[in-house]
Amino acid sequence: MVERQMPRPSEIFELLHFKRPSLDLKKRRLESALTIEDLRRIAKRRTPAAAFDYTDGAAEGEISLRRARQAFKDVEFHPAILRDVSTVDTSTTIFGGPSALPFGIAPTGFTRLMQTEGEIAGAGAAGAAGIPFALSTLGTTSIEDVAAANPKSRNWFQLYVMRKREISYGLVERAAAAGFDTLLFTVDTPVAGARLRDSRNGFSIPPQLTARTILDAVPRPWWWVDFLTTPKLEFASLSSTGGTVGELLDSAMDPSISFEDLAVIREMWPGKLVVKGVQTVADAQHLTDHGVDGIILSNHGGRQLDRAPIPFHLLPEVVREVGHHTDVAIDTGIMHGADVVASLAMGARFTLIGRAYLYGLMAGGRAGVDRAVAILADQVVRTMKLLQVASVDELEPAHVTQLTRLRPRADRVQV
Ligand SMILES: Cc1cc2nc3c(=O)[nH]c(=O)nc-3n(C[C@H](O)[C@H](O)[C@H](O)COP(=O)(O)O)c2cc1C
Repeated sequence: MVERQMPRPSEIFELLHFKRPSLDLKKRRLESALTIEDLRRIAKRRTPAAAFDYTDGAAEGEISLRRARQAFKDVEFHPAILRDVSTVDTSTTIFGGPSALPFGIAPTGFTRLMQTEGEIAGAGAAGAAGIPFALSTLGTTSIEDVAAANPKSRNWFQLYVMRKREISYGLVERAAAAGFDTLLFTVDTPVAGARLRDSRNGFSIPPQLTARTILDAVPRPWWWVDFLTTPKLEFASLSSTGGTVGELLDSAMDPSISFEDLAVIREMWPGKLVVKGVQTVADAQHLTDHGVDGIILSNHGGRQLDRAPIPFHLLPEVVREVGHHTDVAIDTGIMHGADVVASLAMGARFTLIGRAYLYGLMAGGRAGVDRAVAILADQVVRTMKLLQVASVDELEPAHVTQLTRLRPRADRVQV
Protein backbone atom coordinates (compact mmCIF):
# COMPACT_ATOMS: atom_id res chain seq x y z
CA MET A 1 0.00 0.00 0.00
CA VAL A 2 1.24 3.49 -0.89
CA GLU A 3 0.93 5.99 1.93
CA ARG A 4 -0.96 9.11 0.79
CA GLN A 5 -1.36 12.62 2.18
CA MET A 6 -3.15 15.83 1.29
CA PRO A 7 -0.88 18.06 -0.91
CA ARG A 8 0.39 21.10 1.02
CA PRO A 9 0.01 24.47 -0.81
CA SER A 10 3.61 25.46 0.05
CA GLU A 11 4.92 22.34 -1.74
CA ILE A 12 2.82 23.10 -4.80
CA PHE A 13 4.15 26.70 -4.92
CA GLU A 14 7.69 25.34 -4.84
CA LEU A 15 6.97 23.41 -8.02
CA LEU A 16 5.58 26.35 -9.93
CA HIS A 17 8.12 28.04 -12.15
CA PHE A 18 6.33 30.43 -14.44
CA LYS A 19 8.80 32.26 -16.64
CA ARG A 20 8.12 35.88 -17.50
CA PRO A 21 7.33 35.67 -21.22
CA SER A 22 10.04 37.34 -23.32
CA LEU A 23 8.73 40.22 -25.40
CA ASP A 24 11.44 39.65 -27.95
CA LEU A 25 9.51 37.44 -30.34
CA LYS A 26 12.48 36.72 -32.59
CA LYS A 27 14.57 35.61 -29.61
CA ARG A 28 11.76 33.37 -28.40
CA ARG A 29 11.29 31.91 -31.85
CA LEU A 30 14.97 31.16 -32.30
CA GLU A 31 15.46 29.80 -28.79
CA SER A 32 12.64 27.34 -29.45
CA ALA A 33 14.76 25.83 -32.25
CA LEU A 34 16.92 23.03 -30.89
CA THR A 35 17.96 21.53 -34.22
CA ILE A 36 18.57 22.64 -37.80
CA GLU A 37 15.32 20.88 -38.73
CA ASP A 38 13.52 23.15 -36.23
CA LEU A 39 15.07 26.20 -37.95
CA ARG A 40 13.94 24.78 -41.29
CA ARG A 41 10.33 24.57 -40.05
CA ILE A 42 10.43 28.18 -38.86
CA ALA A 43 12.05 29.23 -42.14
CA LYS A 44 9.30 27.55 -44.14
CA ARG A 45 6.60 29.38 -42.21
CA ARG A 46 8.23 32.77 -42.73
CA THR A 47 9.49 32.65 -46.31
CA PRO A 48 7.50 32.75 -49.56
CA ALA A 49 7.24 29.32 -51.16
CA ALA A 50 9.33 30.20 -54.23
CA ALA A 51 12.27 31.50 -52.14
CA PHE A 52 12.05 28.65 -49.64
CA ASP A 53 11.89 26.02 -52.38
CA TYR A 54 14.81 27.58 -54.26
CA THR A 55 16.85 27.03 -51.09
CA ASP A 56 15.43 23.77 -49.81
CA GLY A 57 15.11 22.07 -53.18
CA ALA A 58 17.61 20.11 -55.24
CA ALA A 59 17.73 18.83 -58.82
CA GLU A 60 15.39 16.42 -60.61
CA GLY A 61 14.09 13.81 -58.12
CA GLU A 62 16.33 15.24 -55.33
CA ILE A 63 17.90 11.78 -54.95
CA SER A 64 21.49 13.09 -54.53
CA LEU A 65 20.50 15.22 -51.55
CA ARG A 66 18.36 12.55 -49.87
CA ARG A 67 21.11 9.96 -50.22
CA ALA A 68 23.79 12.33 -48.89
CA ARG A 69 21.69 13.10 -45.81
CA GLN A 70 20.85 9.43 -45.32
CA ALA A 71 24.55 8.49 -45.45
CA PHE A 72 25.17 10.72 -42.43
CA LYS A 73 22.24 9.16 -40.59
CA ASP A 74 23.69 5.72 -41.35
CA VAL A 75 26.74 6.40 -39.18
CA GLU A 76 27.53 4.23 -36.22
CA PHE A 77 29.91 5.87 -33.74
CA HIS A 78 32.37 3.97 -31.57
CA PRO A 79 33.18 5.97 -28.43
CA ALA A 80 36.36 5.62 -26.40
CA ILE A 81 36.16 5.46 -22.58
CA LEU A 82 37.86 6.99 -19.57
CA ARG A 83 39.43 9.95 -21.39
CA ASP A 84 39.52 13.44 -19.95
CA VAL A 85 37.08 15.52 -21.99
CA SER A 86 36.43 18.27 -19.49
CA THR A 87 37.46 20.65 -22.26
CA VAL A 88 37.46 19.97 -25.99
CA ASP A 89 39.30 21.91 -28.66
CA THR A 90 37.21 22.31 -31.82
CA SER A 91 39.72 24.52 -33.63
CA THR A 92 41.50 23.43 -36.76
CA THR A 93 43.50 24.72 -39.70
CA ILE A 94 42.24 24.59 -43.25
CA PHE A 95 43.69 25.88 -46.53
CA GLY A 96 46.57 27.47 -44.66
CA GLY A 97 44.60 29.35 -41.99
CA PRO A 98 42.69 28.87 -38.75
CA SER A 99 39.04 28.16 -38.00
CA ALA A 100 37.58 28.03 -34.50
CA LEU A 101 35.16 25.28 -35.55
CA PRO A 102 35.55 22.49 -38.11
CA PHE A 103 32.91 23.96 -40.40
CA GLY A 104 32.49 27.11 -42.46
CA ILE A 105 29.75 28.78 -44.47
CA ALA A 106 29.36 27.51 -48.04
CA PRO A 107 28.95 29.91 -50.99
CA THR A 108 25.32 30.37 -51.96
CA GLY A 109 23.85 32.42 -54.77
CA PHE A 110 21.08 34.96 -54.41
CA THR A 111 21.24 34.89 -50.63
CA ARG A 112 19.32 38.13 -50.00
CA LEU A 113 16.32 36.45 -51.61
CA MET A 114 15.99 34.19 -48.59
CA GLN A 115 16.10 37.06 -46.12
CA THR A 116 17.16 40.59 -46.81
CA GLU A 117 20.23 40.59 -44.53
CA GLY A 118 21.71 37.89 -46.79
CA GLU A 119 25.48 37.60 -46.98
CA ILE A 120 26.03 40.39 -44.44
CA ALA A 121 24.31 38.18 -41.82
CA GLY A 122 26.37 35.15 -42.88
CA ALA A 123 29.68 37.01 -42.92
CA GLY A 124 28.95 38.73 -39.60
CA ALA A 125 28.00 35.44 -37.92
CA ALA A 126 31.08 33.73 -39.35
CA GLY A 127 33.27 36.55 -38.03
CA ALA A 128 31.71 36.30 -34.57
CA ALA A 129 32.23 32.51 -34.49
CA GLY A 130 35.77 32.68 -35.94
CA ILE A 131 34.94 30.52 -38.97
CA PRO A 132 35.39 31.22 -42.70
CA PHE A 133 32.65 32.71 -44.86
CA ALA A 134 32.46 31.98 -48.59
CA LEU A 135 30.88 34.50 -50.98
CA SER A 136 29.40 33.20 -54.25
CA THR A 137 29.98 34.69 -57.70
CA LEU A 138 26.16 34.83 -57.73
CA GLY A 139 26.10 36.66 -54.41
CA THR A 140 23.82 39.57 -53.68
CA THR A 141 26.37 41.53 -51.64
CA SER A 142 29.58 42.96 -53.03
CA ILE A 143 33.02 41.56 -52.28
CA GLU A 144 33.96 44.80 -50.51
CA ASP A 145 30.81 44.85 -48.33
CA VAL A 146 31.44 41.26 -47.22
CA ALA A 147 35.02 42.16 -46.32
CA ALA A 148 33.67 45.04 -44.22
CA ALA A 149 31.09 42.78 -42.51
CA ASN A 150 33.73 40.19 -41.60
CA PRO A 151 36.96 42.08 -41.08
CA LYS A 152 38.50 39.70 -38.52
CA SER A 153 37.79 36.16 -39.68
CA ARG A 154 38.54 34.68 -43.09
CA ASN A 155 36.63 35.36 -46.29
CA TRP A 156 36.74 33.04 -49.28
CA PHE A 157 35.52 33.78 -52.80
CA GLN A 158 33.72 31.19 -54.93
CA LEU A 159 34.40 31.48 -58.64
CA TYR A 160 32.26 30.48 -61.57
CA VAL A 161 34.18 30.88 -64.80
CA MET A 162 31.84 32.65 -67.16
CA ARG A 163 31.63 32.95 -70.91
CA LYS A 164 32.79 36.52 -70.49
CA ARG A 165 36.13 35.69 -68.90
CA GLU A 166 36.85 39.34 -68.10
CA ILE A 167 33.95 39.35 -65.61
CA SER A 168 35.30 36.32 -63.75
CA TYR A 169 38.88 37.56 -63.78
CA GLY A 170 37.79 41.00 -62.60
CA LEU A 171 36.10 39.37 -59.59
CA VAL A 172 39.23 37.35 -58.81
CA GLU A 173 41.28 40.55 -58.74
CA ARG A 174 38.75 42.35 -56.53
CA ALA A 175 38.61 39.42 -54.08
CA ALA A 176 42.40 39.41 -53.80
CA ALA A 177 42.47 43.18 -53.28
CA ALA A 178 39.80 42.90 -50.54
CA GLY A 179 41.94 40.38 -48.61
CA PHE A 180 40.00 37.18 -49.38
CA ASP A 181 42.53 34.41 -48.75
CA THR A 182 41.06 31.42 -50.60
CA LEU A 183 39.42 30.93 -53.99
CA LEU A 184 36.90 28.10 -54.37
CA PHE A 185 36.74 27.25 -58.07
CA THR A 186 33.40 25.46 -58.65
CA VAL A 187 33.60 22.86 -61.40
CA ASP A 188 30.30 20.94 -61.23
CA THR A 189 28.18 23.47 -63.10
CA PRO A 190 28.75 23.22 -66.89
CA VAL A 191 24.98 23.65 -67.11
CA ALA A 192 22.39 24.24 -64.41
CA GLY A 193 20.77 21.24 -62.76
CA ALA A 194 17.02 20.90 -63.30
CA ARG A 195 15.56 22.47 -60.17
CA LEU A 196 12.01 21.38 -60.80
CA ARG A 197 10.55 23.18 -57.80
CA ASP A 198 11.72 26.50 -59.31
CA SER A 199 10.02 25.73 -62.62
CA ARG A 200 6.83 24.58 -60.93
CA ASN A 201 6.74 27.70 -58.74
CA GLY A 202 7.31 29.95 -61.73
CA PHE A 203 10.29 31.29 -59.78
CA SER A 204 12.10 34.10 -61.52
CA ILE A 205 14.78 36.66 -60.82
CA PRO A 206 13.76 39.23 -59.75
CA PRO A 207 10.69 37.71 -58.01
CA GLN A 208 7.47 38.69 -59.77
CA LEU A 209 4.18 39.64 -58.24
CA THR A 210 1.58 37.28 -59.64
CA ALA A 211 -1.80 36.34 -58.18
CA ARG A 212 -0.12 33.28 -56.67
CA THR A 213 2.82 35.11 -55.09
CA ILE A 214 0.47 37.72 -53.65
CA LEU A 215 -1.71 35.02 -52.07
CA ASP A 216 1.40 33.32 -50.75
CA ALA A 217 2.52 36.66 -49.26
CA VAL A 218 -0.50 37.05 -47.00
CA PRO A 219 0.77 34.87 -44.14
CA ARG A 220 4.37 36.11 -44.61
CA PRO A 221 4.05 39.89 -44.46
CA TRP A 222 7.50 40.54 -42.90
CA TRP A 223 9.41 38.99 -45.74
CA TRP A 224 7.58 41.28 -48.15
CA VAL A 225 8.08 44.34 -45.95
CA ASP A 226 11.81 43.56 -45.94
CA PHE A 227 11.81 42.93 -49.67
CA LEU A 228 10.02 46.13 -50.57
CA THR A 229 11.75 48.47 -48.11
CA THR A 230 15.42 47.45 -48.47
CA PRO A 231 17.87 47.93 -51.37
CA LYS A 232 16.87 46.20 -54.59
CA LEU A 233 17.54 42.48 -54.72
CA GLU A 234 20.10 41.92 -57.44
CA PHE A 235 23.35 40.14 -58.14
CA ALA A 236 26.27 42.15 -56.84
CA SER A 237 28.62 41.06 -59.62
CA LEU A 238 26.39 40.15 -62.57
CA SER A 239 23.59 41.77 -64.44
CA SER A 240 20.51 39.60 -64.73
CA THR A 241 18.23 39.51 -67.72
CA GLY A 242 15.32 37.86 -65.89
CA GLY A 243 14.31 34.20 -65.81
CA THR A 244 15.07 31.39 -63.38
CA VAL A 245 18.42 30.93 -61.69
CA GLY A 246 18.90 27.93 -63.97
CA GLU A 247 18.42 30.05 -67.09
CA LEU A 248 20.78 32.65 -65.73
CA LEU A 249 23.42 30.01 -64.94
CA ASP A 250 23.10 28.59 -68.43
CA SER A 251 23.54 31.96 -70.08
CA ALA A 252 26.46 33.05 -67.89
CA MET A 253 28.50 29.86 -67.35
CA ASP A 254 30.91 28.53 -69.90
CA PRO A 255 30.37 24.78 -70.43
CA SER A 256 33.73 24.49 -72.21
CA ILE A 257 35.97 25.31 -69.23
CA SER A 258 38.89 22.92 -68.81
CA PHE A 259 42.11 22.26 -66.96
CA GLU A 260 43.63 25.13 -68.96
CA ASP A 261 41.32 27.51 -67.08
CA LEU A 262 42.59 26.03 -63.84
CA ALA A 263 46.15 26.89 -64.87
CA VAL A 264 45.16 30.47 -65.80
CA ILE A 265 43.40 30.98 -62.47
CA ARG A 266 46.34 29.48 -60.56
CA GLU A 267 48.53 32.04 -62.28
CA MET A 268 46.36 35.03 -61.35
CA TRP A 269 45.28 34.09 -57.79
CA PRO A 270 47.83 34.86 -55.07
CA GLY A 271 46.07 32.92 -52.27
CA LYS A 272 45.02 29.32 -51.75
CA LEU A 273 43.29 27.67 -54.72
CA VAL A 274 40.66 25.04 -53.94
CA VAL A 275 38.49 23.10 -56.41
CA LYS A 276 34.87 22.61 -55.33
CA GLY A 277 32.67 19.88 -56.75
CA VAL A 278 35.13 16.97 -57.01
CA GLN A 279 33.27 13.65 -57.30
CA THR A 280 35.76 10.92 -58.23
CA VAL A 281 39.00 9.60 -56.78
CA ALA A 282 40.69 9.95 -60.18
CA ASP A 283 39.84 13.67 -60.39
CA ALA A 284 41.07 14.21 -56.84
CA GLN A 285 44.39 12.66 -57.87
CA HIS A 286 44.54 14.64 -61.09
CA LEU A 287 43.94 17.93 -59.26
CA THR A 288 46.53 17.07 -56.63
CA ASP A 289 49.03 16.48 -59.46
CA HIS A 290 48.13 19.99 -60.68
CA GLY A 291 49.17 21.34 -57.28
CA VAL A 292 45.85 22.69 -56.00
CA ASP A 293 45.83 23.62 -52.31
CA GLY A 294 42.63 21.75 -51.55
CA ILE A 295 39.61 19.95 -52.90
CA ILE A 296 36.01 19.97 -51.77
CA LEU A 297 34.11 16.73 -52.24
CA SER A 298 30.65 17.98 -53.06
CA ASN A 299 27.71 17.40 -55.34
CA HIS A 300 26.54 20.99 -54.86
CA GLY A 301 23.97 20.02 -52.26
CA GLY A 302 22.29 17.78 -54.83
CA ARG A 303 21.43 20.77 -56.99
CA GLN A 304 23.32 19.69 -60.11
CA LEU A 305 23.65 16.04 -61.17
CA ASP A 306 20.99 13.86 -59.60
CA ARG A 307 22.05 10.32 -58.55
CA ALA A 308 25.57 11.72 -58.02
CA PRO A 309 28.14 10.02 -55.78
CA ILE A 310 27.57 10.49 -52.06
CA PRO A 311 30.48 12.71 -50.95
CA PHE A 312 30.65 11.11 -47.49
CA HIS A 313 31.09 7.68 -49.08
CA LEU A 314 33.84 8.94 -51.39
CA LEU A 315 35.72 10.48 -48.52
CA PRO A 316 37.80 7.57 -47.11
CA GLU A 317 39.23 6.57 -50.46
CA VAL A 318 39.97 10.13 -51.55
CA VAL A 319 41.69 10.88 -48.25
CA ARG A 320 43.73 7.69 -48.55
CA GLU A 321 44.86 8.66 -52.06
CA VAL A 322 45.49 12.40 -51.76
CA GLY A 323 45.06 13.39 -48.10
CA HIS A 324 48.81 13.54 -47.50
CA HIS A 325 49.28 16.07 -50.30
CA THR A 326 46.25 18.33 -50.13
CA ASP A 327 43.46 19.40 -47.75
CA VAL A 328 40.25 17.49 -48.35
CA ALA A 329 37.00 19.16 -47.29
CA ILE A 330 33.43 17.97 -47.80
CA ASP A 331 29.90 19.30 -48.09
CA THR A 332 26.35 18.24 -49.06
CA GLY A 333 23.77 17.01 -46.61
CA ILE A 334 25.23 18.28 -43.33
CA MET A 335 22.35 19.01 -40.95
CA HIS A 336 23.89 18.08 -37.56
CA GLY A 337 27.17 18.54 -35.72
CA ALA A 338 27.50 14.76 -35.64
CA ASP A 339 27.68 14.82 -39.47
CA VAL A 340 30.64 17.19 -39.14
CA VAL A 341 32.34 14.97 -36.54
CA ALA A 342 31.79 11.83 -38.64
CA SER A 343 33.34 13.59 -41.67
CA LEU A 344 36.42 14.58 -39.68
CA ALA A 345 36.76 11.05 -38.33
CA MET A 346 36.71 9.70 -41.90
CA GLY A 347 39.56 12.03 -42.81
CA ALA A 348 38.03 15.34 -43.94
CA ARG A 349 39.91 18.37 -42.62
CA PHE A 350 36.87 20.58 -42.84
CA THR A 351 33.19 20.78 -43.76
CA LEU A 352 30.93 23.40 -45.34
CA ILE A 353 27.31 24.09 -44.51
CA GLY A 354 24.91 25.49 -47.10
CA ARG A 355 21.26 25.01 -46.24
CA ALA A 356 21.87 24.68 -42.48
CA TYR A 357 23.03 28.31 -42.56
CA LEU A 358 20.27 29.45 -44.91
CA TYR A 359 17.51 27.92 -42.76
CA GLY A 360 18.88 30.00 -39.88
CA LEU A 361 18.97 33.09 -42.10
CA MET A 362 15.34 32.62 -43.17
CA ALA A 363 14.27 31.91 -39.59
CA GLY A 364 15.71 35.13 -38.20
CA GLY A 365 18.33 37.03 -40.22
CA ARG A 366 21.70 37.49 -38.48
CA ALA A 367 20.38 36.16 -35.15
CA GLY A 368 19.09 33.10 -36.99
CA VAL A 369 22.51 32.42 -38.54
CA ASP A 370 24.11 32.85 -35.10
CA ARG A 371 21.59 30.30 -33.82
CA ALA A 372 22.36 27.81 -36.62
CA VAL A 373 26.10 28.08 -35.95
CA ALA A 374 25.52 27.72 -32.18
CA ILE A 375 23.32 24.63 -32.65
CA LEU A 376 25.93 22.94 -34.85
CA ALA A 377 28.82 23.97 -32.58
CA ASP A 378 27.02 22.60 -29.55
CA GLN A 379 26.34 19.33 -31.33
CA VAL A 380 29.99 19.07 -32.43
CA VAL A 381 31.23 19.59 -28.88
CA ARG A 382 28.73 17.17 -27.32
CA THR A 383 29.43 14.46 -29.93
CA MET A 384 33.19 14.85 -29.38
CA LYS A 385 32.76 14.60 -25.62
CA LEU A 386 30.56 11.53 -25.91
CA LEU A 387 33.13 9.95 -28.25
CA GLN A 388 35.68 10.97 -25.60
CA VAL A 389 38.01 12.85 -27.91
CA ALA A 390 39.47 16.14 -26.71
CA SER A 391 40.52 17.64 -30.07
CA VAL A 392 39.59 17.26 -33.73
CA ASP A 393 43.00 15.70 -34.49
CA GLU A 394 42.10 12.77 -32.24
CA LEU A 395 39.15 11.80 -34.43
CA GLU A 396 39.96 8.81 -36.59
CA PRO A 397 38.24 6.23 -38.80
CA ALA A 398 38.01 3.81 -35.84
CA HIS A 399 35.36 6.14 -34.38
CA VAL A 400 32.95 5.55 -37.28
CA THR A 401 31.37 2.73 -39.22
CA GLN A 402 29.56 3.76 -42.39
CA LEU A 403 26.58 1.42 -42.46
CA THR A 404 25.68 0.66 -46.03
CA ARG A 405 22.18 0.60 -47.36
CA LEU A 406 23.17 1.07 -50.98
CA ARG A 407 26.22 -0.74 -52.21
CA PRO A 408 27.57 -1.04 -55.75
CA ARG A 409 27.21 -4.32 -57.57
CA ALA A 410 30.27 -6.49 -57.09
CA ASP A 411 31.28 -6.16 -60.75
CA ARG A 412 31.32 -2.35 -60.69
CA VAL A 413 34.34 -0.90 -62.47
CA GLN A 414 36.23 1.42 -60.09
CA VAL A 415 36.77 5.01 -61.30
C1 LIG B 1 20.44 28.11 -52.31
C2 LIG B 1 21.79 27.59 -52.68
C3 LIG B 1 22.58 28.30 -53.55
C4 LIG B 1 23.85 27.82 -53.88
N1 LIG B 1 24.65 28.56 -54.71
C5 LIG B 1 25.92 28.15 -54.96
C6 LIG B 1 26.80 28.95 -55.74
O1 LIG B 1 26.45 30.04 -56.17
N2 LIG B 1 28.06 28.48 -55.96
C7 LIG B 1 28.49 27.27 -55.47
O2 LIG B 1 29.64 26.88 -55.69
N3 LIG B 1 27.67 26.50 -54.72
C8 LIG B 1 26.41 26.91 -54.45
N4 LIG B 1 25.60 26.13 -53.68
C9 LIG B 1 26.11 24.88 -53.12
C10 LIG B 1 26.75 25.10 -51.75
O3 LIG B 1 27.95 25.84 -51.87
C11 LIG B 1 27.07 23.77 -51.08
O4 LIG B 1 27.86 22.99 -51.93
C12 LIG B 1 25.81 22.99 -50.69
O5 LIG B 1 24.80 23.86 -50.23
C13 LIG B 1 26.13 21.98 -49.62
O6 LIG B 1 25.02 21.21 -49.29
P1 LIG B 1 24.03 21.52 -48.06
O7 LIG B 1 23.14 22.61 -48.50
O8 LIG B 1 23.31 20.23 -47.86
O9 LIG B 1 24.90 21.91 -46.88
C14 LIG B 1 24.32 26.59 -53.34
C15 LIG B 1 23.51 25.89 -52.45
C16 LIG B 1 22.26 26.37 -52.11
C17 LIG B 1 21.42 25.60 -51.12
